[in-house]
Amino acid sequence: MSSSLHQRQQQNLLSNSYPISPRSSSNSQQRSISLFSPTGIIILLSLMVVFGVFFPWMDIPDGFFSGSNSLSKWKDYTLSQAVSFVAKNRTVIVCAVSQPYLPFLNNWLISISRQKHQEKVLVIAEDYATLYKVNQKWPGHAVLIPPAPDAQRAHKFGSEGFFNFTSRRPRHLLHILELGYNVMYNDVDMVWLGDPFTYLQGNHDVYFTDDMAAVKPLKHSHALPPPGKKGRTYICSCMIFLRPTSGAKLVMTKWIEELQVQPWSKKAKANDQPGFNWALNKTAGEVDLYLLPQAAFPSGGLYFKNQTWVEETKGLHVIVHNNYIVGFEKKIKRFRDFGLWLVDDHANESPLGKL
Ligand SMILES: *[C@@H]1O[C@H](CO)[C@@H](O)[C@H](O)[C@H]1NC(C)=O
Ligand SMILES: *[C@@H]1O[C@H](CO)[C@@H](O)[C@H](O)[C@H]1NC(C)=O
Ligand SMILES: *[C@@H]1O[C@H](CO)[C@@H](O)[C@H](O)[C@H]1NC(C)=O
Ligand SMILES: *[C@@H]1O[C@H](CO)[C@@H](O)[C@H](O)[C@H]1NC(C)=O
Repeated sequence: MSSSLHQRQQQNLLSNSYPISPRSSSNSQQRSISLFSPTGIIILLSLMVVFGVFFPWMDIPDGFFSGSNSLSKWKDYTLSQAVSFVAKNRTVIVCAVSQPYLPFLNNWLISISRQKHQEKVLVIAEDYATLYKVNQKWPGHAVLIPPAPDAQRAHKFGSEGFFNFTSRRPRHLLHILELGYNVMYNDVDMVWLGDPFTYLQGNHDVYFTDDMAAVKPLKHSHALPPPGKKGRTYICSCMIFLRPTSGAKLVMTKWIEELQVQPWSKKAKANDQPGFNWALNKTAGEVDLYLLPQAAFPSGGLYFKNQTWVEETKGLHVIVHNNYIVGFEKKIKRFRDFGLWLVDDHANESPLGKL
């Protein structure tokens, strides 16, 4: 994965350098033209390869490709700038994406565009390739919150890097709440079939969905369910809506703490869900929590596995989550089998277009 990331960056550099030909004559190019003697080009290309391979987080040298299209400016784009740029009605929809997940991001975006909520979407890029790709196609809609997760450092248990990596999601959400915005978080292996905002009734602090596959009555309680076998609930950390209240901030703070004390495991970095459930358990007395209706927000274990239920609840589904399945290709196949893989035929409906 990291080698493809480096390749992508070099391709960008090379394709960007293409217009710098002796015939073109913009000011910036004239200023640096002596750099582009044959020897100069070879030295520069070598430097680009060296820095691109070993220091992929390094900026492209300033003035190198000057002009308003320079991608490097996004490196300094902050979460606060990004949120104030994309927010509508003081609300943002965020996801966190690394390069291999771009097709899922696009699929999710098409489904959101159909509900006319795409303008509020902010992509939290987990690598520079994603940051540049999204902002190139859709300026201002991606931000990278440094440090970019770095596999080497992130996996050293007990290290600050490890703590940073596992607690990134609640930290980002907490930061957005502190800036005073409502925030909806989604995993990108989801598809919207309806408008979730009409379900965010009342003025609760935190809205979430149950990850269990067992069928509940249509008019089930909106309270936190009772704990399951492991002593905790199975609320999904895949879809969360938060209002900028002290209650919602308390849940995020608790979640960060829970991730810090969670014992290390290979799966831990991808699995911050138990920590979220313990945070809900421990703050339930002080925070106004709201469980969204199962028929509108079914887990993949229910939607993709119980056709009887899907028939019974036809027309009620709002966000479908392609979980309870492992593997990239399997997820895509399942989306295709259910007519939910939109990127092949409907890429023009995405603000990113065809990727
Ligand atoms: C803005 O938010 C308020 C309160 O959440 C809601 O009632 C209203 O419909 C929203 N307006 C738009 C244009 O989305
Ligand atoms: C961890 O995060 C903090 C705050 O965002 C940052 O200052 C620090 O450099 C990070 N440390 C590592 C090792 O990534
Ligand atoms: C929190 O978890 C404990 C241990 O499973 C359980 O006894 C308690 O009822 C839970 N509290 C809430 C509010 O769910
Ligand atoms: C599937 O859904 C039906 C209808 O809601 C329900 O009666 C049945 O128990 C479900 N099957 C499983 C395996 O959960």
